[in-house]
Amino acid sequence: MKVTVVGAGAVGASCAEYIAIKDFASEVVLLDIKEGYAEGKAMDLMQTASLNGFDTKITGITNDYSKTAGSDIAVITSGVPRKPGMTREELIGINAGIVKTVASSLLEHSPNAILIVVSNPMDTMTYLVHKTTDLPKNKIIGMGGALDSARFKYRLAEALDAPISDIDGMVIGGHSDTGMVPLASHATRNSINVTEFLTEDRLSQVVEDTKVGGATLTKLLGTSAWYAPGAAVSGLVQAIACDQKKMFPCSTYLEGEYGLEDICIGVPVILGKNGIEEIVDVPLSEAEKNKMKESAAGVSKTNGLLEL
Ligand code: 2OP
Repeated sequence: MKVTVVGAGAVGASCAEYIAIKDFASEVVLLDIKEGYAEGKAMDLMQTASLNGFDTKITGITNDYSKTAGSDIAVITSGVPRKPGMTREELIGINAGIVKTVASSLLEHSPNAILIVVSNPMDTMTYLVHKTTDLPKNKIIGMGGALDSARFKYRLAEALDAPISDIDGMVIGGHSDTGMVPLASHATRNSINVTEFLTEDRLSQVVEDTKVGGATLTKLLGTSAWYAPGAAVSGLVQAIACDQKKMFPCSTYLEGEYGLEDICIGVPVILGKNGIEEIVDVPLSEAEKNKMKESAAGVSKTNGLLEL
């Protein structure tokens, strides 16, 4: 199993590290445009192999896509991260050109790869890849909901003063500060709906804190987060590589599902060896349905800024 990660910045390197530590891939190729940067990160990561107990081979390369040839899965993290106070959507001008070029370069050497898009604005970048490549839609996956769900679970555990292993919850919709739809109606603490433990006001605060989870960290860190994004991507890669048939909220191209079409947005999907193997139609409350419609309107508006 060969995995390529494009972008050796904090998110890409964290993703490579978590993939290696899980030790399900034979090789991870880390590629960056900055001379020697990916090579250095790969070497440093390989020097943790005996310490962290993995045999995955991580190699770094500067802007030579021939070394990514034959990748089964490729992760696109390249582009600029947001600064404090910026929205993800403001990155479109710079990142759209980068993502289009990277996707094309990857597919030139790995025409059968499954692409996972992380670069922001992620839903629109996923849509861009769908519109500018011939890759079937099941092989184009946007990572946002897995990260947002992890933040939702973190906030729920905090509110409940419960171990995170007792918590389950999912966030669908757009990966944006205003467009996320945390499914509070389905969130549970050890199979019991969280509404049994939290007041409506406290649950609303959990939802709001989740939606700005990325912006909160950008304010604290001065740049976008990387540990949780990297870990979230590694979970998607593992589900595909190991054909796990796991359910994740992922950005995918919709053709009528959830009443939406010609858009990439976060919905529950089953991930396996073929990438997105099924889009799962989960029951939504009227409020959640309306929030999805509003979220989709926001993503479509950002899509309109693309020069396709
Ligand atoms: C985040 O929310 C980078 O969009 C990513 O942290």
